[in-house]
Amino acid sequence: MTICEPVCESGQSLNENGGNEVTRLIINGGKPLRGEIAANGAKNAALPIMAACILAPGKVKLNRIPDISDVRIMGEILRQMGAEVCFDGKGSVVIDTTNLSETKAPYRLVKKLNASFDITGALLGRHGDASVPLPGGCVIGTRAIDMHLEGFKSLGCVIGQEPGGFVSVKANKLSGGRYHFAKTSVGATKNVMMAAVLAKGKTILENVAREPEVVDLADFLNACGANITGQGTTKLEIHGVKELHADFEYSIIPDRIETGTYLTAAAITGGDITVSGTNPEFLKTFLRKIGKAGQKVTTGNDFIRVEGMKPILPVGAIITEPHPGFPTDLQPQTLTLLSLSNGTSYVREKIFDMRFNYINELRRMGANVEIEGGTAVVRGVSRLLSAPVDAPDIRAGSALVLAALAAEGVSEVSGLCYIDRGYEKIEDRFASVGADIRRVP
Ligand code: EPU
Repeated sequence: MTICEPVCESGQSLNENGGNEVTRLIINGGKPLRGEIAANGAKNAALPIMAACILAPGKVKLNRIPDISDVRIMGEILRQMGAEVCFDGKGSVVIDTTNLSETKAPYRLVKKLNASFDITGALLGRHGDASVPLPGGCVIGTRAIDMHLEGFKSLGCVIGQEPGGFVSVKANKLSGGRYHFAKTSVGATKNVMMAAVLAKGKTILENVAREPEVVDLADFLNACGANITGQGTTKLEIHGVKELHADFEYSIIPDRIETGTYLTAAAITGGDITVSGTNPEFLKTFLRKIGKAGQKVTTGNDFIRVEGMKPILPVGAIITEPHPGFPTDLQPQTLTLLSLSNGTSYVREKIFDMRFNYINELRRMGANVEIEGGTAVVRGVSRLLSAPVDAPDIRAGSALVLAALAAEGVSEVSGLCYIDRGYEKIEDRFASVGADIRRVP
């Protein structure tokens, strides 16, 4: 894997010669998918943990790193700020931040990655100073940062805005504080936690996010010598330490969203897929709904199997909520499954305001979905039709791939640069369980 690979914008990628080409997936659907897929490491744990390496000068080897474009961009951001970043092409990366001295994040790369604002907390902890581009709007909704900044202020930081759309966060000396998040935020919890680990004294953070990826970040920081307790609950207690240390290996947790996507493929195609090396505990609410949809779910310590059953049943209501509620990142895939049920389901998106951005594309494939007062009313149809469709973001993109896998005939899914941000070689993974799918320029 190269770490400087060009990354696409607006649905396009740069080919080897520097030219633009629109890549797409050609999917001949209607085949039941059967087999086993091994889960990759979680994107949303890998990204902040890579950023957290800034806090621990020295070499850290991270295992189970997914080969996705977001991870490559985070690697490149760290490299441009002075770190050594070496991907081995076999799922590991060695990051050495000994010589990372830059406090200003590179604009062009950071703007490609919503998660890159997460480096602010790590830069603050390391240097007491961070200058990071304000995140812009995003295709799934507003990406507000008010609680990130309020949380930093509670640790003694001063916030300013610099020319060029940068926010500056500075602290002569970070000191422990207390902050209650008005609403649960994964990114703000991670960011303030990273800033607090090297602050002087005790920090209490309340109403924090309980996502497994937040817990994984806390566990990683503790492995570096931090003193964090309460991860996985709504309250974190962080006792500041003088320094963090590196020179160890750490394995990222399995990706629950990737797992859920592949399991939904079994249900929607009437197939039978086992995802191995995953953690069923992370997906309890989602699996309950899949069971309610009439699908046979079997779990073991580290695997989940879904046997697709007909008919797919309506499930009443799904409301996306912070963990352990129903994950917003599995909303598009699940709604797509329900579009083939034999009744009506209601899907309410409470986390992001624009996450029904794919419904028009799904309608073009024959789905009967209407948005009424912020709720998607999904009236099941007996079949989806093949069509050319465009992925508007990562999860919506994977949902459209699921729709194409279920639809009779040949569909084309473009907007792959989004899907590639979160799914490693999605076409190879689906082909390995029997899909007729290929990537073409
Ligand atoms: N919010 C605020 N103020 C803040 C921070 C957030 O109002 O200061 C709002 C956001 O605008 C949003 C909601 O709170 O409406 C939730 O945002 P959160 O901070 O929890 O999300 P995030 O950290 O931006 C992460 C994941 C998303 C995932 C959400 C929710 C990463 C890199 N991203 O985003 O993942 O959907 O948590 O679980 O961890 C994806 O992987 O495709 C993806 C979008």
